[in-house]
Amino acid sequence: MLDRNNELTAWDRDHFFHPSTHMGMHARGETPTRVIAGGEGVYITDVNGRTSLDAFAGLYCVNVGYGRQKIADAIAEQAKNLAYYHAYVGHGTEASITLSKMIIDRAPESMSRVYFGLSGSDANETNVKLIWYYNNILGRPDKKKIISRWRGYHGSGVMTGSLTGLALFHNAFDLPRAPILHTEAPYYFRRPDRSMDEEQFSQYCADKLEEMIVNEGPDTIAAFIGEPILGTGGIVPPPKGYWQKIQAVLAKYDILLIADEVVTGFGRLGTMFGSDHYGMKPDLITIAKGLTSAYAPLSGTIVSDKVWQVLVQGSDELGAIGHGWTYSSHPICAAAGVANLELIDELGLIENAGTTGAYFRERLAEAVGGHRHVGEVRGDGLMAAVEFVEDRDDRRFFDVSQKIGPQVSAALAERGVIGRAMPQGDILGFAPPLCLTRDEADIVVKAATAAIEQVLGR
Ligand SMILES: Cc1ncc(COP(=O)(O)O)c(C=O)c1O
Repeated sequence: MLDRNNELTAWDRDHFFHPSTHMGMHARGETPTRVIAGGEGVYITDVNGRTSLDAFAGLYCVNVGYGRQKIADAIAEQAKNLAYYHAYVGHGTEASITLSKMIIDRAPESMSRVYFGLSGSDANETNVKLIWYYNNILGRPDKKKIISRWRGYHGSGVMTGSLTGLALFHNAFDLPRAPILHTEAPYYFRRPDRSMDEEQFSQYCADKLEEMIVNEGPDTIAAFIGEPILGTGGIVPPPKGYWQKIQAVLAKYDILLIADEVVTGFGRLGTMFGSDHYGMKPDLITIAKGLTSAYAPLSGTIVSDKVWQVLVQGSDELGAIGHGWTYSSHPICAAAGVANLELIDELGLIENAGTTGAYFRERLAEAVGGHRHVGEVRGDGLMAAVEFVEDRDDRRFFDVSQKIGPQVSAALAERGVIGRAMPQGDILGFAPPLCLTRDEADIVVKAATAAIEQVLGR
């Protein structure tokens, strides 16, 4: 077993180009290779037999937890019966058609159709193209710019990496590209003026957005994209009144709203969609991760009836839409999606995300909220974050070179619990599978408390 592990590690160093990894350190063997071999419930096990409680559900995607027989069976059955057929020129499979119906049944009322992709990034790429097409069909060829937020995360392709508002995803890649603009992050803890209350800060964000729209020219702005709750940018719930004030500005200038629900879709906030949770009325919704709980790669762009009608007009004028991928609505992935959505209902996981999520966040705040280097404990549903500061009173942040967030997440991993050091700021994030129990939540809180004390003292 040891030999096999050493062999895999050597192959990994020499051949595997890992995403989001320090390439040099990994190739030189300065950071560990961990070979994951199995998973059950909220736990994963590596090839050395070491088990960890995965309090980030992979990349906040394994929402039903690991090892679900029902989904494995659905995948196997589909692979045996029909591993693949395409969806071009009106073709479908029972799985892809059934899944479309299940998604629209669960989506907000105004939603009409779902276009399938494979990743959150490609679904947002589809959104950008559909919005440009939409405005061309409506005879508004200049209305093409898309406004995103600093700290938003929407993928790492050329357009979607541009939509993303995190420096790490732009640096040395010549991103962001036109016509993407970034506005204020709805990050109350980092508000510019500490005297603002949440409503005032929301108004400030809406005013900043309106200022940008007016300066650029409203006739050039097509859409606004946002995650209901900022995810990779730091797990930051919107300040009070934020979405209402933002939507009022968008309505005033006839600007579409894309809700990027890659993380929040299918239950993570204790509601089917984050849009339901925060009163958003999107024109397009991006879905991925929780759609299959990552048992197979599948994403989607859900379009509202308003957008759909214009797309139909487009193909009546121009012919079949020139957009499609070989693996759109891949039957194996669609079968995984059907089984996954059924399982979420059968196990009551959305309700559990709400109730156990609230329990987890309360316990976490009680345990570490008073620590002198904890600036804020925040979250919603089964998403939580602890943000570290050098000084609480001054809201002074640690120098990034100290790598406080990564140190705490490493100390947590040593205790058998996986959290995520969020990429910008010293923030420890949690987004466990939606099947988390209270006992498991207690394990995470206990380990997080010890890890924080190890790195930052009592
Ligand atoms: C909100 C959001 N949108 C889009 C993406 C991109 O998804 P993918 O990594 O599947 O391309 C992510 C990934 O974390 C995400 O969190």
